[in-house]
Amino acid sequence: MKKVLVIGSGGREHAIVYQLSRSPQVEHIYCAQGNAGIAQLAECVPIADTNVPQLLDFALTHQVDLCVVGPEAALAAGVADAFREAGVAVFGHSRAATQIESSKEFAKQLMARHHIPTAAYRSFADYNEALRYVRSRNTYPTVLKYDGLAAGKGVVIAENEQQADLTLRDMLVGEAFGKGKVVIEDYLQGPEFSFMAFVHHHRVYPMPLAQDHKRAFDEDKGPNTGGMGAYTPLPFISPEEEQWALRHILQPVADAMANEGTPLTGVLYGGLMKTPEGIRVIEFNARFGDPETEVVLPLLETDAYTVFHAIATGNELPPLVWQQQATVGVVLASKGYPGTYKKGAEITGTEQFDGLVLHMGTTRENGHLLTNGGRVLMCVAHGDNIPQARQHAYDEIQKIHCDNLFYRTDIAYQAL
Ligand code: AMP
Ligand code: GLY
Repeated sequence: MKKVLVIGSGGREHAIVYQLSRSPQVEHIYCAQGNAGIAQLAECVPIADTNVPQLLDFALTHQVDLCVVGPEAALAAGVADAFREAGVAVFGHSRAATQIESSKEFAKQLMARHHIPTAAYRSFADYNEALRYVRSRNTYPTVLKYDGLAAGKGVVIAENEQQADLTLRDMLVGEAFGKGKVVIEDYLQGPEFSFMAFVHHHRVYPMPLAQDHKRAFDEDKGPNTGGMGAYTPLPFISPEEEQWALRHILQPVADAMANEGTPLTGVLYGGLMKTPEGIRVIEFNARFGDPETEVVLPLLETDAYTVFHAIATGNELPPLVWQQQATVGVVLASKGYPGTYKKGAEITGTEQFDGLVLHMGTTRENGHLLTNGGRVLMCVAHGDNIPQARQHAYDEIQKIHCDNLFYRTDIAYQAL
């Protein structure tokens, strides 16, 4: 019987813990740090996800058989490197491989070297040179991306020269960002979707496609968030297009990373766009997407421990088996999110929800379930098709009560 340590505290980690808890091989799950939902399935331990020495010490003391890393910050802090060096099986990329997410320029250069389809780009460290380039192009909108950790505020779609100038000043001259470069790229148009795969070096095991909704309010209005809901499958991507993306994007990226000395050992997340010219890469992430994982991972029928362990250690897997159900997940977020919001509002009724309530930001005090983050719950429902699953999700959400939560009412609208 196996012991597993999961690192992270959000809905994505709740989905991971949920799947591991269904594995007959798994005897005990620890989660650092977890949340109130995860605590129903795992023993939560108060160690920060970037505290590498303490996490490793915990894993060795408790003789865990496998560690599954959720957040990018933990990977960028070198958790997987330290565990691998100590001989603990770990599902998660090295710090070097995590650059596919943490450095836009690393990802763009890799794609250019290997002819992976993406928007044309140039990168600049100098404000004057960048501005000269933007002026010479004189094409709007134009996309400006800060090349470094920017907590989700690093992408600006400039509509005119004045806005481009202000953004470049902000990113390259001002104090708000660090000492990074700016990637300037062509503006692409079309529906976006998320294509995740389990990857060990050259081996790539695709997951079902999902779509996330990044804006806070209905009709894709309001500020960008971490994601307000997700669904799978996607009617606007054909099986042929999915195969094309696997063959021309995910597999060649895995091969390139392995061949260039930064092999992947975890999840490769392609943020893709279906443009009139074909499928293009918008970005890569080095981890499970959140909230996409909450609708995708529960569909995995193959034993999750077997999958995570094989990816961690390089064992071969049979083709993965996925339930063929339509799944829609709606995020309940604190009023005010993604700006400032209050914590500590009581939530009731989650037990009545017919489906899966995955906790993103919750805590429990004196037996009461309380909000404890911006995104609080991901309410996941199934159906024979997307309209059914969506109706089911919205009907069931009525059973959950809290006076400080809001949600989008149009999740999956692109699939109706
Ligand atoms: P990223 O952090 O690179 O995923 O960018 C955040 C969001 O900005 C994406 O989800 C897209 O909606 C948008 N975006 C990024 N790059 C482009 C592009 N080249 N063309 C159009 N939209 C983009
Ligand atoms: N849902 C988008 C992401 O995880 O980055």
